[in-house]
Formats: sequence, C-alpha cells, structure tokens
Amino acid sequence: MSLSNLTKDKQIIAIVCNQFGDTGKGKFSDYFAANWADVIARGTGGNNAGHTIILNGKEKILHLLPSGIIQDSKGKINILGNGMVIDIKALCQELEELEKENLTYKNLMISKDAHIIMPWHVSQDRAKNMSQKSGGIGSTGRGIGPCYADKIARRGIKIADLFDEEVLEYKINKIKQFYPEQEIDFQKTLSELKPYIEKIKPFVKNTIQEIHKLKEQGKKICLEGAQGLFLSVEHGTYPYVTSSDPSINGTASGVGLNAQDVDLTLGIIKFPFMTRVGAGPFPTELGGKSSEEYCAQGLEHDEDYEIKTYIGNANKQEKTIDLMNSEDEFTQGVGIRLAAGEYGATTKRPRRTGWTDAVLAKYARRINGPHFILTKVDSLAGAKQFGICYGHKLNGNTTTEYDQNGKFLKQITPELKFYDGYSDISQVKDFDSLPEGLKQSIKDFEDFTGGKVEIISVGAGRDETIVR
Ligand code: IMO
Ligand code: MG
Repeated sequence: MSLSNLTKDKQIIAIVCNQFGDTGKGKFSDYFAANWADVIARGTGGNNAGHTIILNGKEKILHLLPSGIIQDSKGKINILGNGMVIDIKALCQELEELEKENLTYKNLMISKDAHIIMPWHVSQDRAKNMSQKSGGIGSTGRGIGPCYADKIARRGIKIADLFDEEVLEYKINKIKQFYPEQEIDFQKTLSELKPYIEKIKPFVKNTIQEIHKLKEQGKKICLEGAQGLFLSVEHGTYPYVTSSDPSINGTASGVGLNAQDVDLTLGIIKFPFMTRVGAGPFPTELGGKSSEEYCAQGLEHDEDYEIKTYIGNANKQEKTIDLMNSEDEFTQGVGIRLAAGEYGATTKRPRRTGWTDAVLAKYARRINGPHFILTKVDSLAGAKQFGICYGHKLNGNTTTEYDQNGKFLKQITPELKFYDGYSDISQVKDFDSLPEGLKQSIKDFEDFTGGKVEIISVGAGRDETIVR
C-alpha cells in the first residue's frame, strides 16, 4: 500500500509512541508534514521531548516546536496546544535557532491556555526528581512534573496570564508559599521573562478555536505525540512516568479535539529492540539490573565513553556487530545502543536497551488502536538473532497482559521467541523483500497484539520508509 492509500479519506492523523518515548515521532511527524498535513499540532509534554529530524542531511533536534515547523515557509501551521507545558525561554531559544538557519515560523500558534514552566519548577525538578543515583525517577530536569502538579492543584500559570500583569502578580505571589526553599519575586520574574513574553506575543491564540476552524475548513491535521504510552501518568509504569497522558486521548484533548475526531492513530514502536531512558521497570532489558545501574550513571556512560571503552581503535561497524553477537546480554545491549545511536536527544544519557515487548504493545493496541509503525529496524543489521517478548513470567505462571504494577514488572522474566537476524535492509523498498526472520516476527507480532503494521522505517531519512 502507498501513503496515499493509507491516508485516503483521512483528515486527522495522530502519531503517538507506544513504548517509552524516543521511537521516531520526529521522523514521522516530519514525514506527514512534508507529504500530507496542512497543520501539525502538539498536545502534551514540554521540552522533555527530543524529536530528531534530518534536515538537508543534518540532524535537527526539536523539543517544543512540532516537527512541521520546518515546513512553515510552505504555509504549514504549527500549534503548541493547550495540554502542553511551555518554558517560554526554551521556546524562544528554539525560535532563535530557526532564525539562525533562515527558517521561518510565521504560521506558529501558541495556545493561550497552555501552562508555563516557571524557573521554580525547573529548580524543584532538578532538586527532587532528576538524579537517578539518589533515587529520583530520572526526570529530564525541565520542570515538567512540578508544572503539571501546579496545574492539577489549580494554581498554575497560563500563557494568557503573561498578558495581564495584575493576574500574574496575584498568581506569582500566591504560589510562593508552595516553594518555601526558593526566592520568588514578582518584579524579578517579570523582568526576566519580559523579552520572551514580547517575542511570543504575536503567536498566542485561542488554539482550540483555531483548530476547530481549520478542521471545518477541511485542513489536514497531524497530531504529533510526545513521550510514550508507558510514560503516561494514566497508563505507564507509575510512578516512573511523565506527568501527562501522551496516549491518543491525552494528545487529542491537549489540542482541544476529541479522540474520535482522529481518523487514524499510528502508534510507533521500535522493533525488534526497544529503549527506555530514566528509571523504572523495563522487563526485557538486556543485562537487567546491571544495565539499569550502568545507564543510571548518565553522562558518565555517554556515547563518547562507550566508543572509547567498547570500540577503541577498532572499526566501529564491525565492532558493534561483535558486541551485539556477544554471549553476554549486557554487552549485547551496549552493542545495540552503539549500533542504533541510543543516547538521549534531550539529556545525552545512554538509553537502556532490550527486546521489543509485545505484551506492552498488545496493551498499547487497546488504548491507541491497531495501527503500528515500526522504527529503527535497520539498526540491528548484523545481529545473528533477535528476540521478541510474548509473555511475562513469574513463579511458573505466564501472563500476556500488561499490568502497571511496578514491583511485578521488575520481578518477571520475559518469555522470548528468537528469530534469525538479518543484514543491511536500508535499501529495501517493499515489505515482501524483507528478510524471512523479520517478516515472520512481524507476522507473529501482529497475531499476538491484534494490530497491523502499516509502516516500517529502515533508516532515518524520509525516503527510507516502507508503507505496506
Ligand atoms: P520524547 O518525546 C523518552 C522520561 C524521563 C523520565 C520520565 C519523567 O522524545 O519521546 P519528565 O522530565 O517528563 O518528568 O521525566 O520520563 N521522558 C522521556 N523518555 N522520551 C521522551 O520524550 C521523554 N520525556 C520524558 O527520562 O524517565
Ligand atoms: Mg526523543
């Protein structure tokens, strides 16, 4: 099937992640922005996201702006939705980066109802949640959790409040009592924020009204998810989650739409390996606890460190294949990380690696629907075999149902089925030409989850994409 068949009669398409984030939402949001959408809107999270796209052969990482911003000069509208939490300084920095590359953002819209990440949110997040080494959940340290906490506690500050000094002063003075360790001063905060307030002012809109107008005009809308279903505060491995609901429900709600308005939800997973960054259960992690502890060291074990330690002067491609084919699971995990470049786009931390967990994917199919995109499939080229997890086993009992229970998820062993590995597939253009082991695993995955694999990504570039 071609892209035009997949998108036939569709007006609103959502791209969400069905794992722990970092599955390639950037690539696909860019793909749909370039090939299909008129409007690209984000509904959840903030600059904890890191969405990588390839622009003129160069990597570009976006944190707040939807990936469609690259298409602004073609008249594409990009929306930061009401469900987002926005650090306006970080947003202005991203806008300045666009300016440096001579990219425009004249059709940008920022929801007046999005909440603002204030400096005290960032300080509190860094003090309490960031460090995995001292028991934190390993947040990205961007102030996401504290900002959403204030939102839910009904004391948050919205973008609209920036344009009413009286309200802003009242709200800032009121919030002080909740941050006793911090010095919060209205005038100081205002003068710090002033340049950013001025810069974003022309783009602030009632985006809920705008998106409905655009919908009524028949514009094609792409919703760009952030984070992933298993980081959702509703569905994820609570409390090791982010503070929003990046499912299709939260994503639609976060731009002011109903999930039923969405004609096609595409849930992305990495396949046949997956990753997680930060703390929390990860049943299929290669190297288990040792990998978790090693990755918790963060920047001490970043890409430079791993290249120096595991590759040295050897040929990188050959050596990573050797590592992936090691007898030792921890080493296999390092090999996959190096082969696939799995280091945080936002924090540079090494991502934990493991086999794709179809038990999680089956749950994801229930929440986000049956349509899957598989990404990073090419990265495993050279591995002699790979595993897919079809069960969670504890004390002789196997379940094929995901349960948020973190203690359980940490104790279980994955039931893996192994398949023959494959070599380079980056040039493959159609599903039938994929290697047999891979095709069989996709078929088994579909049978198990009840889902359908619509798209397979075999490389970072827009054209390295197989639409089934
Ligand atoms: P994208 O959109 C992967 C993780 C953090 C941490 C937990 C909570 O690029 O897929 P937070 O800062 O949100 O309070 O951190 O969630 N996390 C992500 N992991 N991809 C992301 O975004 C993430 N955003 C947050 O590592 O474990
Ligand atoms: Mg990312």
